[in-house]
Amino acid sequence: MKQKDILIVDDDDLVCHSLKEMLGMEGYKVDSTLDGLEALQKLRDTKYSLIISDIRMPTLDGIELLKEVRGKNLDSFLIFITGHGHIDGAVEAIKLGAYDYITKPIDDIRLKLTIKRALEQKQLLDSYQDLKKKIRPWELDDRIIVKDHKMVELLDLVQTVSETLATVLITGESGTGKSMLAKYIHRHSSRKGGPFIELSCGTLTETLLESELFGHVKGAFTGAERTKKGKFEDAQGGTIFLDDINCASLNCQIKLLRILQERTFERVGGNESIHTDVRIITATNTPLPLEVEKKRFREDLYHRINVVSLFIPPLRERLGDIEPLIEYFIKRFNETHQKKIKGITKNALQLCYNYHWPGNVRQLENVMERGVILSPGDFIIPEILPDEMRLGTPVAEDTADLPLAIALAEAEKRIIFRCLKQHNWNRQTTAQVLGISRTTLFNKMRQYQIDDPRKISESLLH
Ligand SMILES: Nc1ncnc2c1ncn2[C@@H]1O[C@H](COP(=O)(O)OP(=O)(O)OP(=O)(O)O)[C@@H](O)[C@H]1O
Ligand SMILES: [Mg+2]
Repeated sequence: MKQKDILIVDDDDLVCHSLKEMLGMEGYKVDSTLDGLEALQKLRDTKYSLIISDIRMPTLDGIELLKEVRGKNLDSFLIFITGHGHIDGAVEAIKLGAYDYITKPIDDIRLKLTIKRALEQKQLLDSYQDLKKKIRPWELDDRIIVKDHKMVELLDLVQTVSETLATVLITGESGTGKSMLAKYIHRHSSRKGGPFIELSCGTLTETLLESELFGHVKGAFTGAERTKKGKFEDAQGGTIFLDDINCASLNCQIKLLRILQERTFERVGGNESIHTDVRIITATNTPLPLEVEKKRFREDLYHRINVVSLFIPPLRERLGDIEPLIEYFIKRFNETHQKKIKGITKNALQLCYNYHWPGNVRQLENVMERGVILSPGDFIIPEILPDEMRLGTPVAEDTADLPLAIALAEAEKRIIFRCLKQHNWNRQTTAQVLGISRTTLFNKMRQYQIDDPRKISESLLH
């Protein structure tokens, strides 16, 4: 398609000709026609940024031309030329989305200015539209923050997967955002109008889990006083998200396999086959191949649920996400707790980069909430961050002004912490490396209140 600046439409030969000449001299690429219908013809093979048109014309008047242009979804701007007695038509044109109008006799300077302004605005609008096309849909979703290239690539893949109805397995450490991603997939699928039902297989006993998933009939087990529908029935036409799928019992796994193969199941204790139309998304933070090897997870089910596998990397391996997530959490918790924290200091941010985040995004979220609540000033400072984050850093110069005994204790504390971390919190190895007995190490850990962060992260998680 050709691209030009201006199309002039006026049945008055003189106006048409003189405008074309004047605007051509201004450097614009201009076409002109005496007839509205011919104008439509021209619009078929040329893209004009601006149309300057008379309102009253014999075959197709200006307003009809405007309606045709909008109806065809063309984004050209329109400026109308109208006689003094016909302002009403011009006002109507503006209401219908014309850019502006000029009255006859035409004031050249005013016309040139209006055109210049219109073309500038059109250019701005075009670059905004281009930008919008380049922005990925998940960037417009304010609940999911993604900047690191690893996550950007993952989300691009998620976009394609969402549109299909493929069964998806999401893997990743605890707190990396698996549940969030499952919801996102649902929201961006053709099933978004249907229900999204989430169930963790790790929190219920075998019987209860089966009854939750498939429902039960009256008397199926002690306490089953009424027939009850399960989540697979509730989720009809939507998505079911089974978290911690590795925890499903072998018995339950057989039933899930049947659903995936035949799309049917029976309620616990019942014999009526129920058809289900549900997309299944599962998640695990334990590698399933290992569970398969240990015969705790059925290999055939593993292959069925693993049609598309999405791995969310741990936070420590996607450092590009740290700062945007911090900004996002500060903003969110400012609103929740009515605070006005402006950000995080450079040093505190550095600690966030250095830290290994065993509880991933959920832990960062908790640390930021605590930071927003506890910060006395405008910024989150290192002192506000939990001990385990500060102690992981090398002995810093900030001990230089302290009395020697305290500085030494601080150094000892940090060295012990670092060594423990390096050796995966194995106290025997740490004691050997540091050349102290296990009892001494234990006492020093107590003295300096050094705790295994894996325990800390567990307590943060619940
Ligand atoms: N990219 C992100 N942007 C914004 N918030 C996030 C992001 N990733 C995770 N979160 C937030 O972090 C928290 C943990 O995420 P989520 O519950 O999805 O993790 P999970 O992997 O399912 O954890 P678990 O293994 O414990 O079930 C949630 O509050 C979630 O909103
Ligand atoms: Mg989860």
